Order: sequence, then structure tokens, then C-alpha cells
Amino acid sequence: MYKIAVAGTGYVGLVAGVCFAEMGHQVTCVDIDEDKVKVMKSGVSPIFEEGLEELMQKNYTAGRIEYTTNYQDAYKDADAVFLGVGTPEKEDGSADLSYIATVARQVAESVESDCLVVVKSTVPVGTNDKVEQFIQDFLINEVNVEVASNPEFLAQGSAVHDTLYAERIIIGTETEWAEELLKEIYKPFNLPIVSVNRRSAEMIKYASNDFLALKISYMNDIANLCELVGADIKDVAEGMSYDERIGSKFLNAGIGFGGSCFPKDTQALDYLAKQNGYELKTVKAAIDVNKIQKISLYKKASKRLITFNGLKVAVLGLTFKPGTDDLRESPSLDNVPLLLDQGADVYAYDPVGAENFAKFYPEGPNRRGSITYVSNVEEALDDANVCFVFTEWGEIKAVTPEMYRGLMRTPLVYDGRNIYDIQEMKKAKVEYHSIGREPGRVEVMRGEKNELQSTRF
Ligand code: UDX
Repeated sequence: MYKIAVAGTGYVGLVAGVCFAEMGHQVTCVDIDEDKVKVMKSGVSPIFEEGLEELMQKNYTAGRIEYTTNYQDAYKDADAVFLGVGTPEKEDGSADLSYIATVARQVAESVESDCLVVVKSTVPVGTNDKVEQFIQDFLINEVNVEVASNPEFLAQGSAVHDTLYAERIIIGTETEWAEELLKEIYKPFNLPIVSVNRRSAEMIKYASNDFLALKISYMNDIANLCELVGADIKDVAEGMSYDERIGSKFLNAGIGFGGSCFPKDTQALDYLAKQNGYELKTVKAAIDVNKIQKISLYKKASKRLITFNGLKVAVLGLTFKPGTDDLRESPSLDNVPLLLDQGADVYAYDPVGAENFAKFYPEGPNRRGSITYVSNVEEALDDANVCFVFTEWGEIKAVTPEMYRGLMRTPLVYDGRNIYDIQEMKKAKVEYHSIGREPGRVEVMRGEKNELQSTRF
């Protein structure tokens, strides 16, 4: 078993630390935030993630994990220091590496024995070569410190499961010593390990995430076309999914991808390509489609309604996906301000995301409208003129057409996640709009020629 330090206790760092402890390693999680450390020591997870708190408590009680702000003590005799600090996106789309640099320097100035620095954070290809050089420049003691790349593929909401049962562990190393040590650390997980060089490992992370983002944007693009030609994207996706080369996952069209990874990683790879004099047309397309997709429902509704001014607008779901309280790049953040600007009285419901959302849009009058946070779906829908669904939480999926019909003043629903049955909505006399599966050509042709929008919305 190894002595491991983990820098940063966000999604990546904390989950990795807890899972290493669960595998029997001796782990110290380091964070600069004293309050956060206190919270973690008390057995409370600072993030909402299924199964995490139980594992934190179990391993803390067993003495396999501790939390500290004292990085010197944590790093000085660690066999490996894992970096799970953030690499936020800068204005120009490049990754901000200042947290990585700070920890690299702290490691260099603290280590007293040989140590492998393992970068889990997503960093542009070539960064870890620089990190290694940077550490050598600041190293105080005569010890061997090398840098490995070990990108993380966990998804929020299933982070613990994704780590303990990962489909693959990617390790990018430049020496046999680093490769063997990292393989040994991961041995207790008993998972497939793909060992490549450092730059390939860094690229695998971007190439994987951007491929998934591209898959979603592709389906959204096709969905928009489906609407125009009278096809149903859900049926189309189902039909595609039987081809094993395509697969059945990440084919859900909707209101666009959000979260801490896809938006940032598509921008970062686009930027990296440009820096190298190359235009990554596919990734650029994924970004462009997503931008349009995020406000497509709002645009649709704007054409249907004369104004949002003075309307009660129910918003169901605020987080970028279910199972997390994270709002980063969530479509709700693009749409709610548009509604408020139009004078809407927004009644928002989210099982866990409302508190975070209120930090951006405090309850009460806001812009030309107002926002109220309610504690259940019914309150949001009660007497509402229109409803937007932004996140497919279980309790939102469970809303029946009869509830929309019975609770709303006008049962007009815009569903960004394609979660309801069109026929059932029709039967209940709910006017239902979703993405890529509305009646297309046949109905359009019944209206005025060339007036696609006005006949349909
Ligand atoms: C993603 C990757 O899945 C993970 O491997 C990586 O390490 C980090 O980024 P995450 O951002 O947590 O994880 O969520 P994910 O479930 O992948 O969803 C990302 C976004 O895509 C969400 O906004 C989701 O709603 C959207 N999405 C996903 C779709 O619109 N359609 C789909 O079919 C799948």
C-alpha cells in the first residue's frame, strides 16, 4: 500500500482520494480552504455525489484518509501526489494552469523522498512536460520527481461508481519507474490499464470528451432537421443505436450539453488546434451547434407567445444534468435571464440546484421580471402560463400530462429533455413542444406555404 497525497478536493480530487483510501492506500487530501477541510473532517461531503459521504466516513474512521491544509506534511514523504485541481477556461478558451503551477511548486519545495506527481486534471497536451521541468527548477532536495498523466473520466452524479469501476485507467508516463509505480497504485482496483506516453494520455482525455460532445451536437443537429422534415429523433436514435459501431449511449438530443467538462474541453481543444496552426472543424461545429441549441426552446416559445411579460413561467430543473447540484454551463443559466429580461415571473423548481442558482439570481424582482424558488413541481406549475423543462430529474419525469393540464392556467410545455410521450400529452390536451420530434412536414404543409414557423408555432 502506498502513501498518497491528493491536491484539490473538488469532484476529481476528493473522489480519487476517497477511492484510493477504499482500496487500502494511506491518503491525505489537501485543500487551501480551511472551512472545507473542517467540513470534510466532520464526515460531510462538500459536494453532492451519491455514495461519497459514506465512503468518506468509512475510510476516515478506519484511519485511511485525512484532510489538511498543511501541504508540506502531506507531500514531504508521499510516494505519489495526485493533482485534482481545477483548470478553468480563460476568456480566449485556453486552460488556466495557475492552480497546477501553484501545487507543482509546493510539491517541489516540500518533497524529501522520491515522488511521482500524477496529474489528473485535464490539461492541454504538452503541459505535463512543462510541469516536470517546472518542478525540477524549484526542487530543493536531491530526490527523483517525475510527472505522469492520469486523466479522469468520471461523470458527475456517478463519480464514485465511475472511479471504482472505470472502463479503463489511462496512464501516461515517460519512464519505466513511473509506469510501474502507477500500475502498482492502481493494482487493487483490478481494472484495465492503458499505458501510453504522457502526451497521448493528455490527448486521450480531450479526444474522448470532445467526441462525446460531438456525438451530442450531431444528434441535436439531426434533431433540428427531424423537426423540419417530420421525423422523430427518438425513433431515429433508437434505430441508429442497434449498430454497435454507433452504440446506444449519448444519442439523446436535447437542450445542449453543459457541465464542467464538455464546454470547457471543446473550447480548449479548439484553442490548442489554433495555437498549432490547425483548424479542428469537427470540434468547432460541436461548439457552434451547442450554442444555438441551448436557447432553441426559448426561441421556439418566443415565436408561439406574443410576450413573456407578466406571464408565470414554470421552470423545472436548473442543474446541467440530474444527480448533481452543479450549474456550470447549465442551459438554465442561458434561458432564465432571457425570460427575466422579457418580464417573466419565473417559478423555478430543482430538487438540489435552487440554492446555487439563487446565488446568480436572488429571489424577488430580477431584471424586468421576477424569480421565485419553489419546493415542488406542483407549486411551480400552479396557474402557470408556460412551462420549460431543463433537467430530467426523476420527479420531473414523473409529472403526468394530467398534472400539466390540471395545474397550469394554459397547459403549454417546452421540454428540453424529450422526457414525455407526445401522444399522451396530446390525449390530455397539453400543447407539448420538445426537441426533434414534433409533427413536421405533414402539418406544416397544411398551413401557408413557406410560412414554416408561423403555421407551426
Ligand atoms: C462528462 C463525461 O461523461 C466524463 O467522462 C468526463 O470525465 C467529464 O465530462 P459530466 O459532465 O459529469 O461528464 O456529464 P455527462 O453525463 O457526460 O453529461 C454532459 C452533458 O451532456 C450534460 O449536460 C448532459 O445533459 C448532456 N447530454 C449527455 C446530452 O445532452 N445528451 C446525451 O445523450 C448525453
